[in-house]
Amino acid sequence: MTTKRKKTKTSKFGSPGRISHDSSEFYSTRLYEDFPSEKKVKYVEEEIPTQNLNKIFCKSSENMEDLPDNSVHLMVTSPPYNVGKEYDQNLSFTEYLDLLKRVWKEIYRVLVPGGRVCINIANLGRKPYIPLHAFIIRDMIDIGFLMRGEIIWNKSMSAGSSTAWGSWLSAQNPTLRDVHEYILVFSKDTFKRSNPLKRENTITKDEFLEYTKSIWNFPAVSAKKVGHPAPFPIELPYRCIQLYTFKEEVVLDPFMGSGQTAIAAIKTNRYFVGYETNKEYVKLAEKRIKEYLIELNSPTLYDYHADTQGTAKDNP
Ligand SMILES: C[S@@+](CC[C@H](N)C(=O)[O-])C[C@H]1O[C@@H](n2cnc3c(N)ncnc32)[C@H](O)[C@@H]1O
Repeated sequence: MTTKRKKTKTSKFGSPGRISHDSSEFYSTRLYEDFPSEKKVKYVEEEIPTQNLNKIFCKSSENMEDLPDNSVHLMVTSPPYNVGKEYDQNLSFTEYLDLLKRVWKEIYRVLVPGGRVCINIANLGRKPYIPLHAFIIRDMIDIGFLMRGEIIWNKSMSAGSSTAWGSWLSAQNPTLRDVHEYILVFSKDTFKRSNPLKRENTITKDEFLEYTKSIWNFPAVSAKKVGHPAPFPIELPYRCIQLYTFKEEVVLDPFMGSGQTAIAAIKTNRYFVGYETNKEYVKLAEKRIKEYLIELNSPTLYDYHADTQGTAKDNP
């Protein structure tokens, strides 16, 4: 005789079961009224012209006309922080968020239904603290993205962490030293990704067990070593790509910097496309990509398309 396992319901006392769980009551509460909800959309996927794939465009990602609607599977990036780095423009906070919002809207357009977004962001300042991640989340939800969650990147094992304690061993004004950054994760229209072409998963069991946790532990990389003021480690886009895309899909970084996302895409057998306004960084990324391909001993594996018609100014 087979006994039917009873469905659990979300408990009013906070001890939810996880097997065959019926959470419909929870999701129909008025709490969700003000959030975008999943849409019933047909999966469509447009092809990016070959000459625009595996390429970094030297121009602003506020306009990504080179990419058709519904053509990208994952966006992973770390935006400029507007904190006076050589590439920052000294915008007011509102102007800065508006610039990012123009990029996020373009991302929404180019992503396939169910396509994912991973935004790596650190918060700013202390007097007062600017919770940048909270403003970005608000803007993404306004645009209509569905939030999947947020990952805390614990970088406390990195060399040379801050010693700005504020008042040392005193309650007068002790200062928190951030040893974390965020990776904010969103989807366009649906949480589930269709995979009509039956592309392969490449994530291993150990990676899956580790990457589905909301805290990621790995060190930062040295800016000096990479040659860019604010690179993230390849590990960061690598994990996002492994978790959120299938083999041979397209990964976009609208703020490509030194090319770490492109290298992670090549490493995982995905295509990349990027935008970067600073010509020197485009050259740096191209050089690093070529070196990586030579290291792989397959310089022709990915036909690299250099942006010879870059429209950006030198070091804006
Ligand atoms: C935080 S860095 C990204 C670093 C990158 N993740 C890496 O690992 O090297 C942000 C980059 O965005 C570029 N940038 C700034 N405004 C831009 C825009 N409107 N469009 C495209 N790139 C832009 C900057 O030149 C800078 O290289």
